[in-house]
Amino acid sequence: MTGSIEPKPWQAVALTLFPDMFPGTLSQSLAGQALEQGLWSLETVDIRSFASDKHRSVDDSPCGGGAGMVMRSDVLDLAILDVKEKSGDLPLVYMTPRGRPLTQNRVRALAQGPGVAVLCGRYEGVDQRVLEAHGAEEISIGDYVLSGGEVAALVMVDACVRLLPGVMGSNASGEEESFEAGLLEYPHYTRPTLWQGRKVPDVLMSGHHGNIRAWRREQAEAVTKQRRPDLWQNYLNNGVKNDDTKNDKNCI
Ligand code: 6GU
Repeated sequence: MTGSIEPKPWQAVALTLFPDMFPGTLSQSLAGQALEQGLWSLETVDIRSFASDKHRSVDDSPCGGGAGMVMRSDVLDLAILDVKEKSGDLPLVYMTPRGRPLTQNRVRALAQGPGVAVLCGRYEGVDQRVLEAHGAEEISIGDYVLSGGEVAALVMVDACVRLLPGVMGSNASGEEESFEAGLLEYPHYTRPTLWQGRKVPDVLMSGHHGNIRAWRREQAEAVTKQRRPDLWQNYLNNGVKNDDTKNDKNCI
C-alpha cells in the first residue's frame, strides 16, 4: 500500500448466527476474484457472541403468543453497535420477506456507497424495536420464504459487487446502461449454427447490425410483455423506470 489516497474498498458486513455460510458462493467466480483482489471486503459478525446469559440465548418466544422464536433486541443491539464501532457508518439492511422488494436501482445505490451491513434473521423474525432504533431498511429478495436471511444477503451482496469498478469487464456495465433498460433480455445463441435440427435465427448470421438490433428489441419486448406485465406497463408508461425508487434507469 502506498498510503493516503487509496480508497477504502466496498465493505460488506454480515450479522448472522451462521458465519460459516459466508463467503459461500461469494468466494467463487467474479465476486470471489474481486474479493481476493481487495476490490471489496467481507466480514461476519457472530450474533451469538453478544449473548450474555449462561445459555448464550439469542431468541425468546413471541410476545402475544404464536409459533416460533424471535431474535432479542438487546443481543442484536450489541452486535449492531459493535459493527458501527469497527466498520463506521454503513447502511443497515435487514433481510426479510416483509421488506421492500430489492431492485436494481437499490443495488446500484448501495454499490455506489461505502458498503452495507446486513442483518440476517433466523427463527420467526427479529424484535421490531431494534430495527427502529437503528433505522434498519427491510429488504426482501422475492415473494417466497427462505429459512433465513443469509442466502438473501449473499444474493444482495452479489448484485452489488458485480457493479463495483473493476469487478466486471466494460461488457456488462455497458449492457446495463443500454437502451434495453426496463426490458427482459433478448435470447442468446452461439455456434454451432445448426444444433439437433435447430438453427440460429438467420438475422443473427446476416451481419446486418441494424436488423439485429431491431430483432433483439422485438424479442425483448415480446418476452417482457408475456412474462412480466408489470415491467411492460412501466416500460409503456415511461420507457425505463420500473420501480418506486425514482432513480435513473432500471435495467433487467
Ligand atoms: Cl430477504 N429473507 C428471508 N428469510 N426470506 C426471504 C427473503 C429474505 N426474501 C424472500 N424470502
